[in-house]
Amino acid sequence: MKGPAYSAWQDWQVERGPAALVAAAVLAANPHNSQAWTFQVGDDAIDVFADLSRSTGALDPFHRELYVGLGCALENLLLAAYANGYAPTVTLLPAPGHAAHVALAPGPTERGPLYEAIPHRHTDRSAFAPGPLPAATLTEMAALAEPGTRLVWAADTAHVGRLMVDAARAVTRDEAQSRDSYRLFRSSRSDIRRHKDGLTLDVMGMPALTTAVAKLLPATSRSRADAFWVKNTETVQTRTAAAYGFVAVPDAGDDRARITGGRLLQRVHLWATANGLALGHMNQLTERADRERELGLEPVFTTATQQLVPDGWELLAAFRLGYPSGANGRRLSPRRPAAEVAQPVSG
Ligand SMILES: Cc1cc2nc3c(=O)[nH]c(=O)nc-3n(C[C@H](O)[C@H](O)[C@H](O)COP(=O)(O)O)c2cc1C
Repeated sequence: MKGPAYSAWQDWQVERGPAALVAAAVLAANPHNSQAWTFQVGDDAIDVFADLSRSTGALDPFHRELYVGLGCALENLLLAAYANGYAPTVTLLPAPGHAAHVALAPGPTERGPLYEAIPHRHTDRSAFAPGPLPAATLTEMAALAEPGTRLVWAADTAHVGRLMVDAARAVTRDEAQSRDSYRLFRSSRSDIRRHKDGLTLDVMGMPALTTAVAKLLPATSRSRADAFWVKNTETVQTRTAAAYGFVAVPDAGDDRARITGGRLLQRVHLWATANGLALGHMNQLTERADRERELGLEPVFTTATQQLVPDGWELLAAFRLGYPSGANGRRLSPRRPAAEVAQPVSG
């Protein structure tokens, strides 16, 4: 995990001024590592835009995850604003596709543990170590939610685990979803270097030796990749999840709520990282629910998903939480560096 596709993780504090904020933003969690963002950088403002050409297609037919990912990036950007001596003022969605305008005035420098966790946060797809999470931890994490968002903990983890496996299977049986997932799988070094995005063998949560062997073999087929994911969901991810968390908002179809919920999701992930916990995003339930709506299918996962959150709230994004079992789940994913996704404001 060396070279230009990974340099964003090492160089994230090299920039000065507003560019430093973009360098932090690009390290955020985002759907399938599609990095569907662009930034315009001025002396006293940054604008964040959706890049719809990077949509994950059938996995995200209504751009739910795309906007959640923009919220994740915005959270990193704002933490970096405070850390670099700015007082940011955010206007969400000043225009369609224009996710946020962030005005930057001089302010005090504040570097907290969430900011420091930015380069250490990774999506963990490996087996978690056993052990229940203290109730106080879950309560403290739920308190990270700001008005208009909620962090809900699953009451019945076995039930959610079964749903996750069923939904993973349903995604793999849906040809378009399977293809769009495979499209973002980067199996060769040259692909990774060229695209600087997508999912790689390194981040699958496999032990180091298995990963090394897999890299020597020919690229895995779509059906084998699907089978690996379902098996890993069933025998590793759901079996070792200590808790499932759901970011909920009143209307998961509203882009503003998605960005705000995305900010919470990123904050929760950074908090987990700063406190020695492992977190893996798992969004196959909502990917199926959105697909049911798109195609007019029987609302199996739509109904199941709605039952996981209190009345008046909708499930926006889901994750599993637990204790890390080692370094297998903490490997770097590729990133397009800030310079490739940001343009200076002209004039
Ligand atoms: C909205 C959203 C949905 C995601 N859904 C999944 C998912 O269903 N399964 C998964 O393994 N990772 C999921 N992820 C994690 C991304 O794949 C991950 O953030 C991305 O590959 C970058 O890797 P990193 O988080 O380690 O930096 C999701 C992330 C976001 C923000």
